[in-house]
Amino acid sequence: MNVQNRTIFSNDNLPVLRGIDTETIDLIYLDPPFNSNRNYAAPIGSDAAGAAFKDTWTLSDVDNAWHGEIADREPALSQAIHTSELTHGKGMKSYLIMMAVRLLEMKRVLKKTGSIYLHCDPTASHYLKSEMDAVFGKNNFRNEIVWQRTNTHGLGIDISPRAVDLVRVRLENEVGLFGKIIHRTDIPKRSEKLPNYRTHKHTLFGKQEGLCKGCKTQFPFRNMTVDHIVPKSQGGTDHEDNLQLLCGACNSTKGQGTQAELISRLKAQGVLR
Ligand SMILES: C[S@@+](CC[C@H](N)C(=O)[O-])C[C@H]1O[C@@H](n2cnc3c(N)ncnc32)[C@H](O)[C@@H]1O
Ligand SMILES: [Zn+2]
Repeated sequence: MNVQNRTIFSNDNLPVLRGIDTETIDLIYLDPPFNSNRNYAAPIGSDAAGAAFKDTWTLSDVDNAWHGEIADREPALSQAIHTSELTHGKGMKSYLIMMAVRLLEMKRVLKKTGSIYLHCDPTASHYLKSEMDAVFGKNNFRNEIVWQRTNTHGLGIDISPRAVDLVRVRLENEVGLFGKIIHRTDIPKRSEKLPNYRTHKHTLFGKQEGLCKGCKTQFPFRNMTVDHIVPKSQGGTDHEDNLQLLCGACNSTKGQGTQAELISRLKAQGVLR
């Protein structure tokens, strides 16, 4: 396991999840946005002032590459999302895409003996159940738990650093639940053997918006090649941050060279100014 117990990451949980070693987590509890179509901010003057999150969703909130990734990794999940668009619309679809890419990573990091609890409300609970069935397998579903509401306030957590501080203070001083809590703002790096670097192709295509990182020209997905920015022969790794997409011509121009060498060759050829 490449992440220490009792660590709070205040970051988007997708890159954080992607940085955690496979099958290393015993329990996942998630209290994600519910697709409530509202935006939230802690009241000015309250301890949590400054903490805020958005719970309205449109297709511009989701990465283009995620659609492809979901269809590749779990076709049933892709169908469940499609159905939600027909009955609810694009907002629900966008929300479910955002959730789906994260659920796929949660499945990957969860041990075979692990458990996952998802807290939500009726806005999307039925669609989330379909997503969970697609990702974790319907036979792995155990039960549904219904909250009885009381006046006691639970512990809130948010990705803002302010919220992390509040939660840490309450966990340590009031609840006495944990010993020292570690707060990290970086993205962990997997220590395990990484998945085949080509599996990042969809994500990279979305990030680069279809443009080659050499000649800056738009190419269709099939004409792109996944390239190691720092070549493996020079110690480059298969981590996503060392990968980019190049068109066929740029890829052969780069060969075993560095990115700087590629750019100067393209300039010499008059492809780049
Ligand atoms: C329904 S609230 C739950 C908050 C907390 N559990 C509580 O009870 O007060 C959803 C939380 O998810 C956080 N969130 C939304 N998108 C996130 C992301 N991509 N990564 C990490 N946290 C995220 C929001 O900041 C918000 O705090
Ligand atoms: Zn190119």
